[in-house]
Amino acid sequence: MMEPMRALRNEDLVLGLESSCDETAAAILRADGTILAEAVLSQLAEHTPYGGVVPEIAARSHLAHLPGLVRRVLDQAGTTPAGLAAVAATAGPGLIGGLIVGATLGKGIAIAQGIPYLGINHLEGHALTPRLPGVHPGGLAFPYLLLLLSGGHCQCVLVEGVGRHRRLGTTLDDAVGEAFDKSAKLLGLPWPGGPHLERLAADGDAKRFTLPRPLLGRAGCDFSFSGLKTAVANIVAKGLDAQGRADLAAGFQAAVSATLADRAAHALAMAPEATALVVSGGVAANQGVRTALAGVAARAGLPLVAPPIRLCTDNAVMIAWAGIERLRAGLTEGLDHAPRPRWPLAELAGQEPARFPGVLPVQSLGGHPQ
Ligand code: KG4
Ligand code: ZN
Repeated sequence: MMEPMRALRNEDLVLGLESSCDETAAAILRADGTILAEAVLSQLAEHTPYGGVVPEIAARSHLAHLPGLVRRVLDQAGTTPAGLAAVAATAGPGLIGGLIVGATLGKGIAIAQGIPYLGINHLEGHALTPRLPGVHPGGLAFPYLLLLLSGGHCQCVLVEGVGRHRRLGTTLDDAVGEAFDKSAKLLGLPWPGGPHLERLAADGDAKRFTLPRPLLGRAGCDFSFSGLKTAVANIVAKGLDAQGRADLAAGFQAAVSATLADRAAHALAMAPEATALVVSGGVAANQGVRTALAGVAARAGLPLVAPPIRLCTDNAVMIAWAGIERLRAGLTEGLDHAPRPRWPLAELAGQEPARFPGVLPVQSLGGHPQ
C-alpha cells in the first residue's frame, strides 16, 4: 500500500538535479524556499573546441560529475540522503543522455530513501523561479507573463499556476541567445558570444547600420531572428574595421531589444490578467534587453521581475523549487516517468496527479513479485 500524502513541512529538504544541457547542477532547498546549498559545474571548456554543445560529451560529463555534486551539496547543507524529503530531477526537454543521468540518479535516491520523485519540466523550472521567496518583494502571484530568453529557448508564456502554462508565442527559427551567439561568431567573437557581443556593443553606434526588426508590429508574440542574423552576415561580408564591428554589435543588440519589447507589449495585450512581466534565461543578463523590457512593463503599469542571473541561467535551485511547488500542489511522478527530450509546457496540463511517495510496487521495477 502507498502511504497517503502528507503535507510538506517548511523544514523538509528537497534535492534538485539539473543535467538537461551543458550545466551539471545540484541544489538543496528547504520547502519554504531557503537555499541551503547550490552547485553548478559548467561544461563550457569541454564544448568550446567544437563551437557548440556536443551531446555525447555532455552526457558523459554529467555522469562523471553529478554524483560528486550531490555529495557536495549534501555536505554543504549539513545533511545526508536520509535527511531528504523528496528528489526533483529535470526530466525534459533537453539532451536525452543528460536527462537519463539526472532522472536515474534522482530515482535511485528516491528508491533508496523511500521518498517522492519529481520529474521536472526544465521550462517549468525557469517559469516558477521568480516565485522563489526573495526574488520579488512580497512574492509573485499567478498569473504572470514570462519571457524565457536563452540559447535553447525563446518563448512567451502566461504562467497561470503550477502545471498550468499558456504559451503565447515562440521563435519561428533561432532562439534569441542562438541569434546572439551566431552574430557574435560572425563578428569574430568567442562562443558563447552573447556577453562578448554586449561588451563590444558598448563602444558602438547603434544607428550606423540599418538592421531589420523582425515581426515588428505583427499580431501575436512569435519571434524570428534568422533574418537579422543574415543582415549581420551581409554587412560583415563587405568588410569592417574595429569601430564598424562595434557599431554592428550595437545595432544588432538594439534591433533585438526593440523586437523583444514589441513582442512583449503584444503579449501583455493578449494577457491583460498578467500581474508582472518576468524575464529569464541567459539573455536576461543583457542590459539593453532589460532596459527595453523595463520600458514595456512600466508602460503597462506592471513590475519587471528578473531573477538574479545565476537563477536565470540553468541551475538546480529552480528544479528543486519547481519540485516544492509541485509537491505543494499534490503532484509527484511515478518511477516509470520517462525523460522526454521534447516536452512542451502545454503538455504538463494533462499530467495526472500521482500518489505519494511515488515508489512503484517491486514487480513494476522488474523485480520479483512479492
Ligand atoms: O540560459 P542559458 O545560460 O542557457 C541555455 O541556453 O539554456 O543561456 C545561454 C545564452 C547564450 O546564448 C548566451 O550567449 C546568452 O544566453 N547570453 C547573453 C548574455 N549572457 C548570456 N546574450 C546576450 N547578452 C548577454 N549579456
Ligand atoms: Zn534553460
